[in-house]
Amino acid sequence: MANGTVKRIAINTGGGDAPGLNAVIRAATIAAINRGWEVFGIRDGYNGLFLPEQYPDGGLVPLTRKSVRGITHLGGTILGTTNKGNPLKYPTKGPDGKMFEKDRSDEIMTAFRKNEIDALIAVGGDGSLSIAKVFGDKGLRVVGVPKTIDNDLDKTVITFGFDTAVSFATSCIDRLHSTAEAHQRVMVVEVMGRYAGWIALESGVSGTADVILIPEIPYDLAKVAEKLEQRITSGAKFSIVVVAEGAKPKGGTYSVLSKELGRAERLGGAGERVAKDIQDLTGKETRCVVLGHLLRGGSPTTFDRLISLRFGAAAVRALDEGKSGIMVALDPPTVRYVPLEEATNRMKVVPLTSDIMLTARDLGISFGD
Ligand code: F6P
Repeated sequence: MANGTVKRIAINTGGGDAPGLNAVIRAATIAAINRGWEVFGIRDGYNGLFLPEQYPDGGLVPLTRKSVRGITHLGGTILGTTNKGNPLKYPTKGPDGKMFEKDRSDEIMTAFRKNEIDALIAVGGDGSLSIAKVFGDKGLRVVGVPKTIDNDLDKTVITFGFDTAVSFATSCIDRLHSTAEAHQRVMVVEVMGRYAGWIALESGVSGTADVILIPEIPYDLAKVAEKLEQRITSGAKFSIVVVAEGAKPKGGTYSVLSKELGRAERLGGAGERVAKDIQDLTGKETRCVVLGHLLRGGSPTTFDRLISLRFGAAAVRALDEGKSGIMVALDPPTVRYVPLEEATNRMKVVPLTSDIMLTARDLGISFGD
């Protein structure tokens, strides 16, 4: 079904990068060009549109078959991204010299109109898609594509980037087994994921961790120590503990590295805290490894490439069908459309009665509860 009114679309990538971004850009660009549309990429989130002084070569770059050639397997994003300077809360110096958060969305709407952009494909996580929704509310046609290694977006079975992050975390946990055993140590592995435990849970179960600490279950260190003692009694002199960066002790809070205007707080330190507490409580030599941004790097897995290509093409089909204010979502075996509002309304956390949780419990993995 052709939609005669779409002629020029823009694509942007916002928030933390995730493997698969370039595959989405390629699929959306080619699918749009095949419909006779012009395609532009916005540099660095929305910065290319509302901070033109920073982009002397142009903040809006034409995307052609040539510019998206050979990028499906590349990590990062050819457009650049940012997770600071949210345009709805842009850090700005007031006349009194004090910093405040300014809404600059109208400037971006003006730039869309000036460049005759009919529609936006916004590729992002909850933060970026909430920003995109505002442009939709202001009259721009908007389709979202769910991206994040954290897998915490609601209304889609999975976000792209997650599979690559989990696969890498699992192979890191695999590698830690031999050194943990050789030294008879406890190895603590901290993984990203913000306030959801998906990466920790799925890599921990797949990597056969002994303890997994996730934000959804505040942990009790005494229970963790109990599990480690049981391991020793059963003859296993080493243990692997996977800690989500958002994990928190019972009655306590998660570890925050920093808070800045115009951006989400940075988490970090959970793994070191757990490692120190384990060593203090059990006397077992304990080491901590933080996987951090390594989880966001590298080439997307086959799963992530395919889902990214499917999402990119589906976003263009949605625009062609006259849809707006929606996000493409995986609902196996198909990709469907869900209202952007529903997708960004609440965070998708690990359901405690899910089959993966039950499997972990059946395998004797401790969650510190
Ligand atoms: O949302 C993706 C993510 O990698 C989170 O898992 C993590 O907390 C955050 O981004 C890190 O952000 P930054 O790149 O600003 O350190």
